[in-house]
Amino acid sequence: MLRTHTCGELRPEHIGQTVTLCGWVQRTRDKGAILWIDLRDRYGLTQITLEEGVEAEAVRETARHLGREFVLSVTGKVAERYSKNDKMPTGGIEIRPDKVEILNPAKLPPFLIEDDTDGGDDLRMKYRYLDLRRTPVRNNLVLRHKMAQAVRRYLDGQEFIEVETPVLIKSTPEGARDFVVPSRMNPGEFYALPQSPQTFKQLLMVSGFDRYFQIVKCFRDEDLRADRQPEFTQIDCEMAFVTQEDILNTFEGLTRYLFKELKGIDFPTVPRMTYADAMRRFGNDKPDTRFAMEFVELTDIVKGQGFPVFDNAGLVVGINAATCAHFTRKQLDELTDFVKRPQIGATGLIYARVEVGGVVKSSVDKFYSQEELQRWSEALHANAGDLLLIIAGEPNKARKAMSELRLEMGQRLGLRNKEDFSPLWVVDFPLLEYSEEENRYFAMHHPFTSPKPEDLALLNSPDTIGQVRANAYDLVINGVEVGGGSIRIHDRAVQARMFSLLGFTDEEAKAQFGFLLDAFEYGAPPHGGIAFGFDRLCSLFGGADSIRDFIAFPKNNSGRDVMIDSPSPISEAQLKELSIKTAVVAK
Ligand code: AMO
Repeated sequence: MLRTHTCGELRPEHIGQTVTLCGWVQRTRDKGAILWIDLRDRYGLTQITLEEGVEAEAVRETARHLGREFVLSVTGKVAERYSKNDKMPTGGIEIRPDKVEILNPAKLPPFLIEDDTDGGDDLRMKYRYLDLRRTPVRNNLVLRHKMAQAVRRYLDGQEFIEVETPVLIKSTPEGARDFVVPSRMNPGEFYALPQSPQTFKQLLMVSGFDRYFQIVKCFRDEDLRADRQPEFTQIDCEMAFVTQEDILNTFEGLTRYLFKELKGIDFPTVPRMTYADAMRRFGNDKPDTRFAMEFVELTDIVKGQGFPVFDNAGLVVGINAATCAHFTRKQLDELTDFVKRPQIGATGLIYARVEVGGVVKSSVDKFYSQEELQRWSEALHANAGDLLLIIAGEPNKARKAMSELRLEMGQRLGLRNKEDFSPLWVVDFPLLEYSEEENRYFAMHHPFTSPKPEDLALLNSPDTIGQVRANAYDLVINGVEVGGGSIRIHDRAVQARMFSLLGFTDEEAKAQFGFLLDAFEYGAPPHGGIAFGFDRLCSLFGGADSIRDFIAFPKNNSGRDVMIDSPSPISEAQLKELSIKTAVVAK
């Protein structure tokens, strides 16, 4: 080793020892007679002190010409510090060096390598290897590492076997577009990168593996957001001979283990809510249950008084923003602008203040008597000082907009504390989802998900098909969909029926999934599973909104890696070798 200790290791008990440290120059301070260097490595910072008349002049001369981020080897004695720094673990000591060797000089970094950097997102991503030197970013990756180890410990302890599945596969329909890879040896043909290892883990159940897991890269060519990357990691799991209940319990166990190991938190029993209730009470299939502010449907109460916005609406829904009657006109206008943003899509916001003594003053007073307004207030369980916020419209749109408004109010009122964790299993998802655009049904989870046996008869009529529920579930924590899974179809005939419901002809189903249908004829056990979004779990534990800082080398919102400048064109020769016509790729 080039060093005897790390920069985070030395304490007063080491005083008097001769040590060698290696690291990067965090900063130097030159006061003439005395000069300090803060030397950094991944373990911490250590102060190096050089004093006129004490340290050799040649060593001081080297130290005077150091720049930020130079790589050094420093050999010297550990000494007690004159002015101690309680905030640093090594703050009781300093090194008085006999030797300062520059292992490598460095250009001035384009941003400060400090906890609070002056670098913007783009610059930090371009020089990600420098950004990773910063303690908060490094800590995120350490958390990720610890999480991966804990996942393996827990699942290994439960007899799960880690199996690697291939990355060059055939398209699996998971709802997003595939990334494809041309095959040189099979001209004109393409592999697809897995959106998830779904079909492989099911085949492993047919193979008798019984309990499988994998911490695995998945690839989805979809629009990116703070919690979505084109390549991301799942904790992917599958179990045979289990019911939904067994899966929920096993993975609640994993979640509880992770919270205990990584955050020291005794995680509560995870409550369950049906999809239908989640939509009715929160307008969202991943409700943030850290706070209540539940929806109250007011449609029947408010209709018929001549206010066209309510009279023409399919749904009128309200929330009680408790203690917010003091909101100013300006604040209410801001909220109105918020719900009218195109991505939220409400046509407007109606509000009512419950004043001292219970008098209700609304923005639509001329249509409603005090008595009628009192009924709104009662329905929303409001007290004096509360603010009622109401949205009307087409039911799905009104719910979606109110859900966004609820989250915004939760944020403004400080009800979404990052250190509170409110988990929820959302169960009984619909099996199918209708697409108005494509005029057909899609699998809400994926085509391998089993309908609830008691709802099977509903599949027989086009009128009831949309009501069929699936044995599908999501784990939601603080409004983030952390994981999702289902009990699978393991019967060839049911699977074939499902493909046909989804609009596949027999030939298409055979061409795309023949291998799975065939496998189901060789003794497929009942099975089911789940996949957790590993990056999302890490960012949740780390108290961040974006998963980017928990991924060593992430892509930006346009799916680019700005550091290596990818994607990028490839040469004519490569294209030719891959039998890809240039015209296809020309911009
Ligand atoms: P699903 O599509 O719900 O299920 O994905 C599982 C979990 O993966 C995370 N996730 C993502 N994280 C970051 N970036 C993305 N683009 C992204 N997409 C999804 C989410 C999500 O809950 N094969 C099924 C699982 C199963 O049925 O067992 C599947 O992939 O946290």
